Amino acid sequence: MLIAGNWKLFKGPTETSEFCAELRRHVVPNGIDVVVCVPFVSLVAAVTALDGSGVRVFAQNAHWQETGPYTGEVAAGMLAELGVTGTIVGHSERRQLFGETDETAARRAAHALASGLDVIACVGELEAERDEELTEDVLGRQVGAIIEATGASPRLTIAYEPVWAIGTGKTATPEQAQSAHAFIRTLVDAPILYGGSVKPENAAVLLGEPDVDGALVGGASLDVDSFAAICAAARSVSV
Ligand code: 13P
Repeated sequence: MLIAGNWKLFKGPTETSEFCAELRRHVVPNGIDVVVCVPFVSLVAAVTALDGSGVRVFAQNAHWQETGPYTGEVAAGMLAELGVTGTIVGHSERRQLFGETDETAARRAAHALASGLDVIACVGELEAERDEELTEDVLGRQVGAIIEATGASPRLTIAYEPVWAIGTGKTATPEQAQSAHAFIRTLVDAPILYGGSVKPENAAVLLGEPDVDGALVGGASLDVDSFAAICAAARSVSV
């Protein structure tokens, strides 16, 4: 069971150091894996503050080339050099707002895996796609692109994040999550996280579904108490 906090564009280095010092007092990752995915500029602060705690530090994106004329990009090898052990790729915010495609997400995933990083590759349908009963088509296309580029890797995790549930307070029902996860499971042998308005109040019921292997948590990961409560819920359902 993996609980990953995706901080998105929150917490610079100073706040990261303070937060991580507090986090290691509240979250002991025994029995579950715990990850924080922090902004690039805060990675060093997080790696330093969490050293020896068992909580791992991931980036939120990584480029598919190691060097070159790619202004504004960061390479997987550069992340590894900092003590970062993984990265998110293909988050829906990157797809919606920054032109990420299935192909670029897949290239990022493949290069990060080849560089020794773990990867959380995000997939998920829009509300209109769900309404039109296209959820499985979309998931099939998105997961297919990742698998085609990466092959089977023990360091690949998929995050199912229905776009309509991200930051909206609308959560997939446990049945909706389970059904999407079971479908993804037919495509890939990898852990599958659920993301989309995961909170302390709904974590246990979502994580209790048989094909939900963890959570990718946005807003509720920004507060130590709520993130710790989600980790505790994960521990309680994984024993
Ligand atoms: P929220 O938990 O804020 O809905 O965000 C989910 C998410 O996008 C995690 O990557």
